[in-house]
Amino acid sequence: PTKIILDSDPGIDDAAAITIAINHPDFDLQLITTVAGNVTVDKTTINALKLTRFFNSDVPVAEGAPQPLLKPFEDAVRIHGVSGMPGYDFPTDLADPLPETAVEALRDRIMAAEEPITLVPTGAYTNIALLFKTYPEVLPHIKEIVAMGGALGKGNMTSAAEFNVFTDPHAAEIMYQSGVPITMVGLDVTMKALLTPATMQKLPTIGRTGEMLHALFNHYGDGDQTGIPMHDVNTLFYLLHPEAFTTEKMWIDVQTDGPANGETVGDIRGAYHDGKTNATVCVDIDARAFNEWFLETVEAIG
Ligand code: BDR
Ligand code: CA
Repeated sequence: PTKIILDSDPGIDDAAAITIAINHPDFDLQLITTVAGNVTVDKTTINALKLTRFFNSDVPVAEGAPQPLLKPFEDAVRIHGVSGMPGYDFPTDLADPLPETAVEALRDRIMAAEEPITLVPTGAYTNIALLFKTYPEVLPHIKEIVAMGGALGKGNMTSAAEFNVFTDPHAAEIMYQSGVPITMVGLDVTMKALLTPATMQKLPTIGRTGEMLHALFNHYGDGDQTGIPMHDVNTLFYLLHPEAFTTEKMWIDVQTDGPANGETVGDIRGAYHDGKTNATVCVDIDARAFNEWFLETVEAIG
């Protein structure tokens, strides 16, 4: 199994990603860290703990940054509800988060691992940026970053910017300049791999995990009658099934100001960065394979 750390802001699609990361036999989930994003960080931490409790999992949860590095915080409660995970009654006897902050927990886990570890950020990259600036010694111990966020095409926050990068563009810039191999799993694929109405219909019939996710998805403000985007889950699908994706290597710059604030600018022609690259960008995906894999995976969890 691939050793991963999930850095997330649950959030309904984050909840689906955490569900799969905890339970899929091909992942060895070492740690969940939380960040302010869809809702405030106290709530994203509680939501992560609700999921570890639901699955009786002992994966530790560490709370991270309450604010982006420089930009004022703006949540996404209109998409994910006031709690960030509405629609399902989770147990209330939750474990405590780790006593250390996300940055400390990330450093400890990464440095203690025998092999380089894969980071999977599915919220703003604030914790990742703080980690890289505070403890640069972790950099060679990270195998790769597979990050949900960004878009070569249009954004979902502004015309130019996707939510995770828009939330903390300065953190995204630090991550993309870190030298760690990065795969960008952005809206170019996540808006194609919609969970179809047929998948939604089957979900509550395949076990308690499907029921729980179906209840959350019923309260999800993203998507339309053609389907709902499972943005964050695409990172895990990529890790296990890269053959379902088309990718292109290029340099990604992040806009940190002005009307395109939070835009990920791909140097598609290689003209600006002389053909140098810092990212593998997912540009296409087999949406059917994604739906099949999602249902199979949730059914296997039971
Ligand atoms: C991203 O924004 C968040 O609302 C989702 O959880 C996902 O990580 C999609 O733009
Ligand atoms: Ca997210």
